[in-house]
Amino acid sequence: MTQQSPRPQWWHHAVIYQIYPRSFMDASGDGIGDLNGVIQRLDYLANLGVDALWLSPFYRSPQADAGYDVADYRDVDPLFGTLEDFDSMLSGAHERGMRIIVDIVPNHTSSEHVWFQEALASPSGSRARARYIFREGRGDNGEQPPNNWQSVFGGPAWTQVPGEREWYLHLFDTRQPDLDWRNPEVLEEFDNVLRFWLERGVDGFRVDVAHGMIKAPELPDWDGSQEMIEGGNRGPMWDQEEVHEIYRRWNRVLAEFGHDRMMVAEAWVHPPSRTARYVRPDEMQQAFNFDYLLTPWDADRLRNVIDISLESYSEVGAPTTWVMSNHDGVRHASRLGLSRPGARPNGIDADSEQPDEALGLRRARALIMLTLALPGSAYLYQGEELGLPDHTTMPARYRQDPAFHRTNGEQLGRDGCRVPLPWYADAPAFGFNTTGERWLPQPEHYARYAADRQLEDATSTLELYRQLLAMRHNHGLGNGELVWQQSLRSDVLSLTNGDVTLVLNLGEAPIALPAGEVALQSVPDAISNGQLTGNAAVWLTTP
Ligand code: NOJ
Repeated sequence: MTQQSPRPQWWHHAVIYQIYPRSFMDASGDGIGDLNGVIQRLDYLANLGVDALWLSPFYRSPQADAGYDVADYRDVDPLFGTLEDFDSMLSGAHERGMRIIVDIVPNHTSSEHVWFQEALASPSGSRARARYIFREGRGDNGEQPPNNWQSVFGGPAWTQVPGEREWYLHLFDTRQPDLDWRNPEVLEEFDNVLRFWLERGVDGFRVDVAHGMIKAPELPDWDGSQEMIEGGNRGPMWDQEEVHEIYRRWNRVLAEFGHDRMMVAEAWVHPPSRTARYVRPDEMQQAFNFDYLLTPWDADRLRNVIDISLESYSEVGAPTTWVMSNHDGVRHASRLGLSRPGARPNGIDADSEQPDEALGLRRARALIMLTLALPGSAYLYQGEELGLPDHTTMPARYRQDPAFHRTNGEQLGRDGCRVPLPWYADAPAFGFNTTGERWLPQPEHYARYAADRQLEDATSTLELYRQLLAMRHNHGLGNGELVWQQSLRSDVLSLTNGDVTLVLNLGEAPIALPAGEVALQSVPDAISNGQLTGNAAVWLTTP
């Protein structure tokens, strides 16, 4: 059994910034962000103070699921640039002390991948088909799907090969056929894909759908929910025991390159003790803590999820991560402005309840004070440092998420959280590029969130993030230890980590502050008459 190197490693305390390349910065001006755009913003990221960047997929892809449908795992899609651009971005990040994590999408390929094209052109029972999950349909002529599984994006999880009795499995879109991870050829291919990027110098991988790669052998019917964001799925396609063998194997591949490369699991499983099984000592190094992301604005539940997370991960000797948002769900600044705390709509449109923007932002600024006070590693989603909300009134005609189209709009999908970032308030496309082109529309009020305005404003969300990250770093909070402090009210959380005390008031009524010097506060009016106001937080230091 290959063990990981002595701990702690960089990922134990790293703050990792997710770049969604399509929407980060567009240097070419075609309306879709690219790697040269990332290069242009490396100084911004270094100045923000993050330790690593995770990039969502930029590989060759027909973009049926915004790049999570990979046609060639060893090349950059011309939309995003070239392999040389990737190398420049990587060295630019490394020169500035930031590591690079790339996304690996192993559960499925694109239907345009050469393997799948070969499979379609080959007969049933062929070696080419054995790389995927082809099965005969039910019914006299195979006209019914092989089982009742539903796609995460809606509709059946099977598509029939035209003119045949065989169907192929796709847990996501029709254009994302699932690989058969019991086939040694698939395993070998991905070992080499990992090596390809490790040789180029990447520091880690984010593993897409890490809980879905192994399906129960008989592919039994299952009537459970396929709702991805619900988590906790234990159906025959999720969280199967054998999936862990893949990560033990990959752990050994990473070890060929020393002991400072890592993997982070995207595994929507529940409870945290189940997720922690992906980060046992000979498997991956981190897993996204979606239980934290899913926790409503509620002191008891937050305290509970924090305790359970720390306990579950420490049992396997791995660091905990903290995640509030990513490219798959409504941004927390918008969620926290909804009337029901903890609501997680599948997208928001003009007919939905509109979040209270000011309240959502106020709470988001308070929540980051909690998140960055916790020991472990934190993930930030691009734009949250600007306090960015979702586009909550995006008309249907702009929507591109396959989930929207496969459900005829019943699921609004994820476009609202994927809108291009505003860099300059007064420029075309808010400075996302110089041409004004953009693959998704930006709402007018994004001008208020533009980075240039915030850089000049000492009270901006961006400046708050910068100061929190610097202080977290200087006080070693990522490697610290959490001690809960007794709080005077059930809607207030108070904790210490080293010499920093956090107080977070999740209620509306002001509360007296404990002794200490106020080092940082979530909003300018966080303290009034010596009391911490509602939906606000402070970091105190002991004088
Ligand atoms: C999870 C990714 O984060 C999501 O964006 C994608 O649609 C699915 N996996 C399928 O790859």
